[in-house]
Amino acid sequence: MRAKSQAQPNIALIKYWGKSDLARNLPAVGSISITLDDLYTMMCVESDASLAADVLMINGREDVALLPRVSRCLDAVLGGDREPLRVQSEYNFPMAAGLASSASAFAALVVAADAAAGTGRATAELASLAGAASGSAARSLYGGFVELENTGDDVAVSSICGASEWPLRVVAAITELGPKSVGSTEAMEISRKTSPFYSRWIEQQAGDLAVAREAIESRDFRTLATVAEHNCLKMHSVMWASRPPLSYWNSATLECMETVRGLQAKGVDVFFTIDAGPQVKAVCTPEAEEQVAEALRSTAGVKEILQSGLGEGARAL
Ligand code: PMV
Repeated sequence: MRAKSQAQPNIALIKYWGKSDLARNLPAVGSISITLDDLYTMMCVESDASLAADVLMINGREDVALLPRVSRCLDAVLGGDREPLRVQSEYNFPMAAGLASSASAFAALVVAADAAAGTGRATAELASLAGAASGSAARSLYGGFVELENTGDDVAVSSICGASEWPLRVVAAITELGPKSVGSTEAMEISRKTSPFYSRWIEQQAGDLAVAREAIESRDFRTLATVAEHNCLKMHSVMWASRPPLSYWNSATLECMETVRGLQAKGVDVFFTIDAGPQVKAVCTPEAEEQVAEALRSTAGVKEILQSGLGEGARAL
């Protein structure tokens, strides 16, 4: 059995932060994201009679750290009595730096495993399985603008608007290469247990989701920009007020935010969002892209710029 797949990372505009059920990895809040196009993970899942246990290769090198999570996800898709598998993944962007590499990885993994076994599960079911491995991965099963809802005992993921229906662009400013300081699961639990702002964050999420959903449906860039920046800063405020404090930013992160604010003051259609890492993702209209990329490239502390359009959901190749 052998199958290949491709999936792209997604960037949340209305963020997922906090879990309602740690064991089942259920998010405490809904979220809205955009699936990217130009950054991707390619995944190959294959059986090999000579294997005694699963093997994971990332960009051509064996990885034992991520293997247990990958094996658990394969068990969930294929059942625990499956044969050992070789999993090979290739990324064309830096992993574990707040660019949602786990989202594209687990979305690609469930699709490749399903295709290899020929089970033909529905996308909704694959999204739920990917989400059990990494909450944000459920969203990478779909393209364009995607909403994830917590239905109580599962997640429901759907597309609000296709990639080509509102072809916004993303310019990611990489301010630091290397893995994040605290993993998102641990950080979300610290926030839930200790941040005085956590309960307000949960209470206000439905309102932010409704504003963003409507802005996307009516292609209202300015309204989307305002609610997305607010939601991002609110999530980071929850983190900053946690004990111990969770601070993923560096000085270049702040410089990039200032660059975006400077562009906004000149009337450029752009807004920023930041996840559990120091990178700044600027979302803009196609007309604004080159100006945004140029401004971020010349911002102090920016090491690299990545540009992407919006793309399709995970698929078997
Ligand atoms: O899916 P996880 O466990 O990597 O958590 C993702 C958390 C954020 O990226 C900060 C927000 C989001 O909605 O993607």
